Amino acid sequence: MSHERIHRFLAERRPPTPCLVVDTAVVRERVHELTTAFPGAALRYAVKANPERAVLAAVLAAGGGFDVASPAEIDACLAVGALPKALSYGNPIKKAADVAFAHARGIRDFTTDAESDVDSLARFAPGAAVSVRLLVDGPASATPFGRKFGCTPDQAVELLRRAAATGLDPAGIAFHVGSQQAEASAWEAGIAAAAKVFAELDGHGLRPRRLNIGGGFGVPYRSPVPSLAEYAAAVSAALRSYFPGGSPELLLEPGRAVVATAGLIRTEVVLVAERAGQRWVYLDIGRYNGLAETENEAITYRFGSPQGGLGACPQRGSGGRTPRRQSGLEACPQTESGGPVVIAGPTCDGDDVLYQHTPYELPLSLRAGDQLDILDAGAYTASYSSVAFNGIEPLRIYCLD
Ligand SMILES: Cc1ncc(COP(=O)(O)O)c(C=O)c1O
Repeated sequence: MSHERIHRFLAERRPPTPCLVVDTAVVRERVHELTTAFPGAALRYAVKANPERAVLAAVLAAGGGFDVASPAEIDACLAVGALPKALSYGNPIKKAADVAFAHARGIRDFTTDAESDVDSLARFAPGAAVSVRLLVDGPASATPFGRKFGCTPDQAVELLRRAAATGLDPAGIAFHVGSQQAEASAWEAGIAAAAKVFAELDGHGLRPRRLNIGGGFGVPYRSPVPSLAEYAAAVSAALRSYFPGGSPELLLEPGRAVVATAGLIRTEVVLVAERAGQRWVYLDIGRYNGLAETENEAITYRFGSPQGGLGACPQRGSGGRTPRRQSGLEACPQTESGGPVVIAGPTCDGDDVLYQHTPYELPLSLRAGDQLDILDAGAYTASYSSVAFNGIEPLRIYCLD
């Protein structure tokens, strides 16, 4: 993915760091790529990945709808001109007041996974279409959901029957295999479980029609991930084998795969220090102002050089892949020797360390005041950076049309 436009913007405007720059042309391109890979599926962009107005407008312009998780996200989507029917409320954890709010705004599609939420939907969103979220394993996900969401297939049957009995529309099943899912085969178990629920409901005279396969499509940060074509091939093979009579209506809820590669963060080195024989590099961005997904070193971003001459070189090995050439910058120029580093954020918090177990190398010449780029950083960065911990402002974002 070329970052030429982003580099030109940064060279001309020289905004204070840290900042995230998103190229919305890439967002539009990614939506097209996803809808081409999954023909016939409806795409609902997971707004939480990056709720910037220009990002939402780009998704809408490319024909996408939205997966929303709160009243504020609903209003953000409606404000860019999305129709309520293009929105689904995918968060199973919601107050009755949030359900009523969504219903008043015209939202008629909800995901649920618990009895009391079904009852609240029946009361505050009467007649709405309901999908029940199944718990699926996502061992190859970099940021798995654990057991926070979802239910068993047996519970899903009961919840959909309860939905029907209380006047809701038992539309179907949803699941999410965990974000940054490295295995295309991960979707099979969810599709198989959904088929089982559909078959059981048929025995009760109910005909669910919709299957929401969530997001989870990965981005090649430092390790390769399947291509969209490979993800799509695995999903359609599973659909053919578990739904031999024809696939249900398919919904996708990608977040990361839509916006990550569209964004680049420029950051400045605050300090380089030697500590017990290790070289520590402190950046002006860390866990609390944009890089929340470095917790447990789950997401390992690639670093790049703003000028091409500085060089910031993620080390090869330990699952890392050979850094790719970026247009306008070398991710790892051969002209500068690099050395191992621990990379940390700027706050006085002991947990604000980005990478101390994952091997990284940065040039030995690196000094305070030098700048680095963090690549593929458009998703789950600015949106996780909404408080001013330690008096450091939330991550600034600039969107290019
Ligand atoms: C319900 C739901 N759908 C979709 C997504 C987007 O997932 P991803 O960014 O991995 O595509 C999430 C992420 O948390 C989610 O919770």
